[in-house]
Amino acid sequence: MANESVSIHGIWSSRWVFILAATGSAVGLGNIWKFPYMAGAYGGGAFVLVYLVCIALIGLPIMLAETVLGRRGRQSPVNTLRSLAVQSGASPRWSWAATMGMTAALLILSFYSVVAGWSLDYIIGMGRGEFAGIDGAGAGARFDSMTADPWRLTLWHTLFMLVTGYIIAKGVVAGLERSLRIMMPLLFVLLVVLLGYSLTTGYFMQGVQFLFHFDLSQARAGILAAMGHAFFTLSIGVGSIMVFGSYMPKKSSIGGTVLTVALLDTVVALTAGLALFPIVFAAGLEPSAGPGLMFVTLPIAFGNVMAGQVFGVIFFVLVAIAAWSSAISMLEPAVAFWIERSGKSRARITAVIASICWVVGLGSALSFNVLADAKFFVVDADGWRLFAWGAEGGKTFFDTVDYVTSRIMLPLGGLLFALFAGWVLGRDVFKAELGLKYPRLFPVVYWLLRYVAPVGVAIVFVTELYN
Ligand code: PHE
Repeated sequence: MANESVSIHGIWSSRWVFILAATGSAVGLGNIWKFPYMAGAYGGGAFVLVYLVCIALIGLPIMLAETVLGRRGRQSPVNTLRSLAVQSGASPRWSWAATMGMTAALLILSFYSVVAGWSLDYIIGMGRGEFAGIDGAGAGARFDSMTADPWRLTLWHTLFMLVTGYIIAKGVVAGLERSLRIMMPLLFVLLVVLLGYSLTTGYFMQGVQFLFHFDLSQARAGILAAMGHAFFTLSIGVGSIMVFGSYMPKKSSIGGTVLTVALLDTVVALTAGLALFPIVFAAGLEPSAGPGLMFVTLPIAFGNVMAGQVFGVIFFVLVAIAAWSSAISMLEPAVAFWIERSGKSRARITAVIASICWVVGLGSALSFNVLADAKFFVVDADGWRLFAWGAEGGKTFFDTVDYVTSRIMLPLGGLLFALFAGWVLGRDVFKAELGLKYPRLFPVVYWLLRYVAPVGVAIVFVTELYN
């Protein structure tokens, strides 16, 4: 049963480990792969501005809410919401928000593992010097031949999922905490090395200009994308932060801790952008390449600048580590829930859930080759269809899972968590659990949580529907 001071799954040795874990969760492919390419696709600075506003006004309050709920409930997100709802005299059905979140986290893991697998493939490719002197056509062909090979994608996807499952199976302290203590410092060192390298390219200012030049006329199209990405990059709306909050020692203050995590995540995204764009410009390339930015444009750049091979390997190792420290946080909410529910061993439950995720992930891996013609959400001359084989437009399985999770499930989950913490939990409980160092800030935080964040999510949703 839940206990006032600890969770049955374990407890971090200190507040710092929560910071490591939550930052590890937050910093991932979202920062290094998605953020730069989305900034490229949606007009650079305009997108960055909207993204920063979303982080501050919507992301941060929801992240606080999740951490508060987790530490208060001390159980998996589903059971945390259920018991807190009952304690507050509300419907236990609030737990459905966490059930949806937990499902979204597993869906994200399924395709995340595929993309993370590409980075493993690229570590080897870079190391073997496959990119030396490569041109656009060559890099494109290398990417296409990798994604065209179902076995190769499956192999890396399997390897990534196995390591993720292994860490989770070892448990909160022996698995998560121990691996994070190694991965996170390494991640920051690698990032700084890369940034230092990019400073030497002579194109650094061009990168700065690209990321911070605000052209508001372009921002409109990117608003929903920026909001969805704010959720994705902070790992909120799915219960990952909540579950890590449930392992947080009682005495530490949540306010400052969560602020640190959000700042670190933002700093890493901006640093990744500042490290990558100069390399892209140095190689004379365009930053607007879309998802291929990291796997096509960047490798060309690495193949054509001095010592690019070494830094290319460093870069893809960085990506893999960032992805692993995020992937574990996607698996943990569901594993914790099934342990509570069935009482079976962590190892067995992890094996089952990771296997299910792996199977769903196969759909994503195959959507680049044998299932490339399976299209969802098709809009064409025949009208709108949920599914059509071989249609021109529409989304592949991979794109569909990405879209449905980050554009719909995450914001919806975050909205429900915010409403629960702001309107159901009770002001005094929230305030006591939050333990702000500067209590005078509390009304502002509470106001953001109750009004600004939910209304913000709602407005962006409605605008999207209207368009
Ligand atoms: N925040 C992670 C990233 O930026 C992705 C993530 C989403 C992790 C949801 C956990 C839960 O890559």
